[in-house]
Amino acid sequence: MELKKRVGYEAAKLVNDGDVVGLGTGSTTHYFIENLGIRIENEDITILGVPTSYQSFFLGRDSGIQITTLEEHDVDIAVDGADEVDPKLNLIKGGGAAHTLEKIVDESAKRFVVIVDGSKIVSELGSFPVPVEVIPQATRTVKKHLIDMGGLPQLRMAERKDGPVVTDNGNFIYDVKFTIKNPKKLEIELNTIPGVVENGIFSQIVDEVIVGRDNGIEFLKN
Ligand code: 5RP
Repeated sequence: MELKKRVGYEAAKLVNDGDVVGLGTGSTTHYFIENLGIRIENEDITILGVPTSYQSFFLGRDSGIQITTLEEHDVDIAVDGADEVDPKLNLIKGGGAAHTLEKIVDESAKRFVVIVDGSKIVSELGSFPVPVEVIPQATRTVKKHLIDMGGLPQLRMAERKDGPVVTDNGNFIYDVKFTIKNPKKLEIELNTIPGVVENGIFSQIVDEVIVGRDNGIEFLKN
């Protein structure tokens, strides 16, 4: 079985009947949500889902998950993917431009579980550029701040649509290369730039990581 599928299916075992589940975004959480759908059908259980994107909303709904919101329910467990995971279980997320809602849902959860294949495990964050969601009117001013902070910002361009990626929230994304010595500090500093909505560093909020390796599954805990 493909590694992403293996960890997605493994994480689905952590969900109990009646749980409110944060539905992460991406190709790995796709398998998690798919398996929740299989369990709902086979075990006749009820699962409520709080989506982190239109992608997970559509997939969750089509898998038989009852869709709800943070206004109505607290999240028992959130399961999400990541682009990088460091030894302290800090993350870079936002490869799918969904990190703003992902951070809101994942941080709110009683238990936050990350699912990745082994290629995402790094000794230090920063090979993957940090996604920064920006209000369109602040595109130029935010870029100046990012450069002043030592970053190399690239406006993320859309595929099969002319111009930039527009997020689920109607904003743009800068992918910013940084040397990251202190993830928490950088996460906070980025969010103080006027016009930045949220950035893709998730420091110190992960409870556990399920890593898919060729020789089996590894569980990392904080
Ligand atoms: C989306 C994300 C994804 O979880 C992250 O990019 C990992 O995606 P994939 O599982 O497809 O590798 O943060 O914004």
